[in-house]
Amino acid sequence: MYELIVLFCLVEKEGKDLEMLRKSVERLTVVIKHVKIKANMCTSASDEVLFQKIDTKGVVTLNRPKALNALNLSMIRKIFPVLTEWENDPKTKMVIIKGAGDKAFCAGGDVRAVTEAGKEGDRLAQDFFKEEYILNNKIGTYEVPYIAFINGITMGGGVGLSVHGAFRVASEKTVFAMPETAIGLFPDVGGGHFLPRLGGKLGIYLALTGFRLKGRDVHKAGVATHFVQDNKMEELEKSLLEITDPTAQDIHHVLDKFQKNSTDIPDKDFILAKDMEKINRLFDGKTMEEIYQNLEQDGSEWATTQLNTLKKMSPTSMKVTLRQLLEGETMTLQDCLVMEYRISQRCIEDHDFYEGVRAVLVDRDQSPKWKPAVIEGVTPQRVEWYFSPLPEERELQL
Ligand SMILES: *[C@@H]1O[C@H](CO)[C@@H](O)[C@H](O)[C@H]1NC(C)=O
Ligand SMILES: *[C@@H]1O[C@H](CO)[C@@H](O)[C@H](O)[C@H]1NC(C)=O
Repeated sequence: MYELIVLFCLVEKEGKDLEMLRKSVERLTVVIKHVKIKANMCTSASDEVLFQKIDTKGVVTLNRPKALNALNLSMIRKIFPVLTEWENDPKTKMVIIKGAGDKAFCAGGDVRAVTEAGKEGDRLAQDFFKEEYILNNKIGTYEVPYIAFINGITMGGGVGLSVHGAFRVASEKTVFAMPETAIGLFPDVGGGHFLPRLGGKLGIYLALTGFRLKGRDVHKAGVATHFVQDNKMEELEKSLLEITDPTAQDIHHVLDKFQKNSTDIPDKDFILAKDMEKINRLFDGKTMEEIYQNLEQDGSEWATTQLNTLKKMSPTSMKVTLRQLLEGETMTLQDCLVMEYRISQRCIEDHDFYEGVRAVLVDRDQSPKWKPAVIEGVTPQRVEWYFSPLPEERELQL
């Protein structure tokens, strides 16, 4: 039903170019409009995020399970004031954030809506990133213990809602990735802060290749602070909510206990353990050209696979991402977010973000035509432009 509505909206929007198609669906219009009204009636606007206050504890539930709890601007505008209100209430001792349904915590930001807005010069493309990063900063500086149950797909914008908080609990269902270089974007939401701090060149590797970490590996990489098996998550939440006036130490204690008791899921070596030596050596470069050269010279099967992966990504995104992470390594979260906001606005003005979203999320032909098409084509001046200040009134203020 939702897909029908989306299709209808698209056809309506691009009507000029699709006159014939439009005519042929005109008869459907009445029916679909009716469906749309019904859909709006049965999902009141407040339903996309649920808030509960259980004595001294707050629980936020991202509630768009059909859209894998993807984060959009209206959700951000609901979450931020509630988190602020709870934080300012001295009675609040703990906040939990989780995703509805059994697939995702949050599969990312609603980038499709952002590109559609960007094409039309709509403010949403400025506001979405700005308000999202302000929310990421709220979580990164939250004065109350903040626990994210990243029990499912956790990518991009979903990472921003969890990774900067005090506690992140992964399960065997967690799939973590920062896949933005594949859509002409960059690993934002504070990626410049947390990725270079994962140790060695792991963050650079994850950011450039979009490699997916699953289950216990999300914990081993340092993205999650704890691992608890899926069938104990409900009990974990109950135990946390039962503690009277919990301190961070009490929460730690409960999480440790559940982690120790998650023995049904075998504990193997970190999936990248065997590759870390190569990752640290070959992804150690100040430029993408150096990294390509390292991989080419190494010539191993692993290196060739990585090179082939990188060659599919936006060359501009990769160069911007590498600089973002190298600089972010010594920057505060706040400074990273200001830098990332500048980059986000240049993505809106440039080409690859639109092309990436088209190829991966809209047409799904998986063959983006990047401009420039190769890393050599992306000049240092172009990269510099991505990092240059915005007009004063447009900068992100934290
Ligand atoms: C966000 O998603 C909800 C639920 O699907 C929808 O009602 C709302 O219009 C969306 N808001 C924006 C700004 O895209
Ligand atoms: C560990 O899990 C088992 C089985 O679910 C349960 O009976 C036991 O009480 C748990 N122990 C702790 C310390 O939580």
